[in-house]
Amino acid sequence: MVLVAQLPAVCAACHSGRPQPVPDRKGLYRQPPFRELGIGCENCHAPGQLHVQARLKGKPLRGKIDNTIVNPDDLSPWLADNICMSCHEEGDARVLRSGKRYTDFRPGTPLSNTLLVFSPPRESRFCRRRLPWTPTTLLAMKP
Ligand code: HEC
Ligand code: HEC
Ligand code: HEC
Repeated sequence: MVLVAQLPAVCAACHSGRPQPVPDRKGLYRQPPFRELGIGCENCHAPGQLHVQARLKGKPLRGKIDNTIVNPDDLSPWLADNICMSCHEEGDARVLRSGKRYTDFRPGTPLSNTLLVFSPPRESRFCRRRLPWTPTTLLAMKP
């Protein structure tokens, strides 16, 4: 194990490839601390081991799509967006589900299985930050 200058696991989950933080230990990582330094293929395509094995053996595809790996193009738009949202949708609060870690999210699965992202509705956020109106005023203005 190794101490990575107090890099919180939460930052590493968005800013590196495959970090290996020790759960609930600040700045402590397994060796090697990062299986990939930069954000890499598996951050968007999920683990690729099955895919590599199948293709190296020259196995033919079973159906129309290659189901040994996640291609965001074959997902529903929401599940595809969830991949990007896992790092880009900050919201006002991000809350891990009980017993989950940031690194538990797998592309192709709903982000909400791992993590919930909370934001106030758009109107109220707009009002609070930019205008001296309350959300109620804005609702009242709607035709
Ligand atoms: C939810 C994912 C997420 C988390 C958690 C996160 N970041 Fe980021 N961070 C991003 C993204 C995405 C950007 C790029 C934003 C952009 O360019 O619009 C960014 C940008 C940055 C930048 C600016 C990089 C530049 O080129 O200007 C720094 C520095 C940074 N983050 C440090 C941190 C640190 C330190 C932590 C932990 C305390 C952290 N981040 C946590 C997603 C995250
Ligand atoms: C930031 C997310 C992201 C990363 C990182 C990423 N991809 Fe992708 N990849 C996508 C998305 C989204 C698509 C589907 C978009 C499309 O096909 O137009 C895709 C599609 C693909 C496809 C299918 C293209 C096709 O014509 O059907 C291949 C192959 C692929 N990626 C390989 C890789 C490899 C190899 C890496 C690492 C070197 C990588 N990707 C890294 C997001 C990513
Ligand atoms: C593992 C986390 C992660 C995932 C997944 C991810 N991103 Fe990013 N992305 C980042 C970080 C971190 C940065 C900022 C890098 C920096 O500034 O050095 C970034 C940068 C970007 C930028 C450049 C922003 C700028 O201001 O220059 C775009 C565009 C982008 N990502 C789009 C996407 C899309 C689209 C997807 C989904 C297909 C995606 N990202 C998935 C973490 C992620």
